[in-house]
Amino acid sequence: MPALSPAIYEAMGEEGIFRMLSDFYHQLEASSIRGLFAEDMQAAGKRSAAFYVQLLGGPPMYNELYGNPMMRKRHFPFEIDEEARVVWRDCFYTTLENAGTNYGFPAEHLEAFRDFIERFSQWMVNIK
Ligand code: HEM
Repeated sequence: MPALSPAIYEAMGEEGIFRMLSDFYHQLEASSIRGLFAEDMQAAGKRSAAFYVQLLGGPPMYNELYGNPMMRKRHFPFEIDEEARVVWRDCFYTTLENAGTNYGFPAEHLEAFRDFIERFSQWMVNIK
């Protein structure tokens, strides 16, 4: 997995990342995989945002609040097939369409992040 540049967190800050994840969870809420998630989507969005803060070069917020990410293991309770993955990924891609203007995401790092989303989501698939 290529390292993501800490310049992303520097540009967006915690605030920009939380807003991006809030919008992403709104996308998921309106998608065909909404049923995988618990009632309170925005609560899940905030836990996810803490993960992206540390992933994109900020302080280890997820570890401090929720412990070791172990993302694949944390996703085992949910049945994630290739079809769900594509829906999830495309919701993220939609959120990223105007990420520069909306959240201050630095344009030169967008492609690497999209690539991360593609690869990491493949790793999360746990049923045929
Ligand atoms: C492949 C498609 C994926 C699906 C369908 C999916 C689905 C889910 C579901 C159902 C939850 C639980 C939400 C809740 O509490 O209601 C969750 C949580 C989460 N997911 Fe995913 N996920 C996917 C991929 C990913 C990827 C690639 C990442 C990271 C890059 C990720 C990061 C997270 C995080 C950080 C949480 C919050 C964990 C927590 O509650 O502490 N997910 N996801």
